[in-house]
Amino acid sequence: MAKSGSGAGIGRKIFGLLPKKQKERFPLIIFLLVVSAVLSQLTPLAVGYLTDRILSEANVSFRSVLPVLLVILIVNVVNEIIKVVRRLFVEDTATQTEKNARRRAAASLLTAPLSYFRSHMTGNIHGRLNRSLEGTVKLIKLLLMDFAPAVTTGIAAVVTIFFRLPFPVACFVILVVPVGTFIVFRQISTQKGIRVELLNTKAGMDGTMVELLGGIETIRALDGAKFEEERIAERSEELREKEMKHHRAMAFYDCLKFINEAVFSVLVIGVSVLLASKGTISVGTVLTAYLCFTQLTGPLRELHRILDEFAECTVLANDYFALAELPLDFSYEEPRKAGEKAFPDGNGIELKDVSFAYPEKPDQAILREICLCIPQGMFLGIAGPSGCGKSSLIKVIDRLEQAAGKIELGGIPLDRFSRGELAEQIALVPQTPFIVADTVFHNISYGMRRDVSLDEVKAAAAKANIAADIEKLPGAYDFVLAEGGANLSGGQRQRIALARVFLRRPKILILDEATSALDNTSERVIQSEIEKLKEEAGTTVISIAHRLSTLQNCDEIVVMDAGRIVQRGKFDELRETPGIFRDMAMGVLK
Ligand SMILES: Nc1ncnc2c1ncn2[C@@H]1O[C@H](COP(=O)(O)OP(=O)(O)OP(=O)(O)O)[C@@H](O)[C@H]1O
Ligand SMILES: [Mg+2]
Repeated sequence: MAKSGSGAGIGRKIFGLLPKKQKERFPLIIFLLVVSAVLSQLTPLAVGYLTDRILSEANVSFRSVLPVLLVILIVNVVNEIIKVVRRLFVEDTATQTEKNARRRAAASLLTAPLSYFRSHMTGNIHGRLNRSLEGTVKLIKLLLMDFAPAVTTGIAAVVTIFFRLPFPVACFVILVVPVGTFIVFRQISTQKGIRVELLNTKAGMDGTMVELLGGIETIRALDGAKFEEERIAERSEELREKEMKHHRAMAFYDCLKFINEAVFSVLVIGVSVLLASKGTISVGTVLTAYLCFTQLTGPLRELHRILDEFAECTVLANDYFALAELPLDFSYEEPRKAGEKAFPDGNGIELKDVSFAYPEKPDQAILREICLCIPQGMFLGIAGPSGCGKSSLIKVIDRLEQAAGKIELGGIPLDRFSRGELAEQIALVPQTPFIVADTVFHNISYGMRRDVSLDEVKAAAAKANIAADIEKLPGAYDFVLAEGGANLSGGQRQRIALARVFLRRPKILILDEATSALDNTSERVIQSEIEKLKEEAGTTVISIAHRLSTLQNCDEIVVMDAGRIVQRGKFDELRETPGIFRDMAMGVLK
């Protein structure tokens, strides 16, 4: 969640997001800002000059004032052109920053430890990312568009005050600035906590909303719509109360700022009237003092608004960097010196004394001293009751989770392989197939690092026994699948995931309940294709299955219970031996 960081630190980080070209342009943008702000001061000065001339000279000819009018026209036209150029520069910088920032956040999230995603809801991350990106871009625009003009106008007003008013009156007039600024800083510091709280509450609600939409069928089947609506309404009311607390505080500080201005305007009038009555200043100066005071409060209010929005955007930018600077997952750490490559001796896998606990619950052992040797080309089956650690074991083998003990792939320790090298060797079909909202073609060729022809994809689909189903879809391989494969049956989703594997022809194939939703015919076709892959490419296959018939042709089956391997053997042997496997086969144990 959003953590605080210093303004300067955030400024440096945002600057770091800009491409070199943009960074070089930065001083130019600031220069244009200052020029434009200074030019804006020229028109009132020129008008003042003209007025003075009219007042001091009896007959002012139009020709004599024409040069001044021309100067006003040119200054304004030039200023508008500068503003357009500046705006384009600023928009270019802002969009470049947004592009880079989005990419950096995506890279950070995609390489973050998996435990991060188990402790943060998807919608929460998504909502935070969008809001914090918007805030970061707004921060840049505030700095490059609004801040400098407000400061320059403010400085111009202060200079005019000291130029046109007697020193003691001038000092009195500008006292409104430090008091007002003190109030704004107080406002910012007291509201920071609640701003972070509001941000986190909104992110929590985004998380719930996405979670609900993901389970829409279950919610409908349970007739839970009304219940969920009430739950959302309750949380929205909590959010509203927090927001109102914030708005009340903001209104209070705005009121203080208004009182500050009102008190000082009365003081300025009172003091200058007093001085005029004593003959220290002229009566005209009383009027000038009041006018100068009103000239000052305009930019002051603008600066206060900018500072307040700055504070809000800084909270968002802090949150953005919290997302963009997530720690790197252990499996992305550089395994060897650059350029060095791991050369495994075959596709065998060896595990020695492998133990594992999820980082969120380090005291709960999930795998206990697993020893397992899977020679190249072996078809290993894993069976065992639900929750005994089967999926955890294969996650550890694919380095998705970090275990203690020794794991070797082709005789080389697993941590010597880079993520890319592992992906080249191992194909994992998880318990829940991953389907992207894209065409069937792209789903099957997903993750391939080379161009793939339609014929290759068709051949892979045939091996996964899904080709006939695809041909029936409108547009066949161009048919766009819904998010998560919602417009496919469970078995079709599994077969698409299997087709992906047949296309890759991996050296090691890991299947986690990958055929659990298939009919017997499809399963037979796929099993025989896996056998072929094993024969032709020497692929090592690890298959987890609850439906024990899936494991009938395995070279060896290991049976797990409570994180340990408790039985090993061939299908027929295990079925005859008293133990978990026989109980499962007889339907006594699921
Ligand atoms: N992120 C996690 N944090 C803590 N415990 C977890 C986590 N993920 C899974 N577990 C626990 O680890 C144990 C093993 O889970 P695993 O998914 O490996 O079981 P499994 O044998 O594959 O079960 P199934 O056959 O139901 O798929 C379970 O008790 C589960 O509750
Ligand atoms: Mg599992």
